Amino acid sequence: MGRAKITIVGAGNVGATAAHWCAAGELGDIVLLDIPQTEDMPKGKALDLMEASPVMGFDSNVMGTTSYDDTAGSDIVVITAGLPRKPGMSRDDLLATNAKIMTSVTAEVKDSSPDAILIVVSNPLDAMVQQALRVSGFPSQRVVGQAGVLDTARYRTFLAIELGVSVEDVSALLMGGHGDTMVPMPSCTSVGGIPVRRLISDERLGEIVQRTRDGGAEIVGLLKTGSAYYAPGAAVAQMVEAIVRDKKRVLPCAAYCEQEYGVGGYYVGVPIVLGASGVERIIELDLDDQEQRDFQASVDHVKSLVSKMDELLQGG
Ligand code: NAI
Ligand code: 2OP
Repeated sequence: MGRAKITIVGAGNVGATAAHWCAAGELGDIVLLDIPQTEDMPKGKALDLMEASPVMGFDSNVMGTTSYDDTAGSDIVVITAGLPRKPGMSRDDLLATNAKIMTSVTAEVKDSSPDAILIVVSNPLDAMVQQALRVSGFPSQRVVGQAGVLDTARYRTFLAIELGVSVEDVSALLMGGHGDTMVPMPSCTSVGGIPVRRLISDERLGEIVQRTRDGGAEIVGLLKTGSAYYAPGAAVAQMVEAIVRDKKRVLPCAAYCEQEYGVGGYYVGVPIVLGASGVERIIELDLDDQEQRDFQASVDHVKSLVSKMDELLQGG
C-alpha cells in the first residue's frame, strides 16, 4: 500500500506544527497549503521540515504550496485555515471571518479531494465543522472536528502533575463543546485503572476541570500574540494516525450527532471509534443527571453558535 497523502490547509502555527508531528510519525506524505498572499511561506516551512528528515529519520515527503492542484486526491485534509483569537478581537469577528474562510476552503477541498476525510480545527470549532459538512456534502462519517483530544490531553497533563504519575497512566474523557461548555466525566477518568475519585477530592478535581476549560485562554494569556499550537498539532497527528493506520482509537472528537444523545443534527464532542473510514461509530453512554444537564447546555451553546454563524453568513 502507498503512503497516505495528507493535506494541511493553513500553514500557520497549528498547521505547521501538525505537519511536524505527522512527518515525525511517518504518517504519510504531507502537503502544506496557504493563501497566495503568503507567497513562498508554505514552501519554506515544508522544505525546512523535509530537511529535518535525515536527522530525525523519517521518510515523508513534505511540500508547500498555494495551489489546490498539488493537494489533489488527498486521503486526509486537515483544515486549520483561519484567524486565531487575539486581544481586542470579538468572538463574532472570528466567527464571521472564519466561517467565510471555511466555506471557500471546503469548496476547494471538495473539488480537489472528493474522497478525503476532513479533520476541522479552525475555531469556533463546533460551528466550523458544521459548515465544512454542509459545504462538502460529504457523509458525516468523513467530516470530524478536533477539540476533545486536545482538551483531554490538557486534563490528563494536569491530573498527572497533580498526582505525580506518568501521563501515560491517566485515561480520561471530556465531552461536549470546545471550551467553556466542556463536560467532565469523572466516572470515565482513571489512573492505572483506579477510578480518579479514589485518588483526589471532588473539590480539587473540580479545580482541575476548570483549569482545563480555561486551557486555551491560559496559553493565549502567556503567548499574547496567538493561541496554542504544540498540543493542538499533536492532537491532530493522533487523529491522522488513527485514520491512516486504521487503529480504531476511541477518542473524544466533534462528531455529527443525529439521534445520538438526542442532539438532532449538530456537532458535539463525544467518544467515537476513529479508523480508516473516519467516524466509524459514536459511542453512546448513559449520562447521569448532572452530565445530562451539562451536555445539554453544551449542545444549546453549539446550536446558538451555528445560528449566529448562519446570520453572519447571510448578512454577507
Ligand atoms: P495562524 O494565524 O498561525 O495560522 C492560520 C493560517 O491560516 C495563516 O497562515 C493564514 O494565512 C491561513 N489562512 C487564512 N485564510 C486561509 C485560506 N482561505 N486558505 C488557506 N489558508 C488560510 O493561526 P493558528 O494558531 O494556526 O490557528 C488556526 C486556527 O485553529 C484558528 O482558528 C484557531 O483558533 C484554531 N485552533 C483550534 C484548536 C482546536 O482545538 N480546535 C486549537 C488551536 C487553534
Ligand atoms: C485552544 O484551545 C485556541 O482552541 C484553541 O488552545
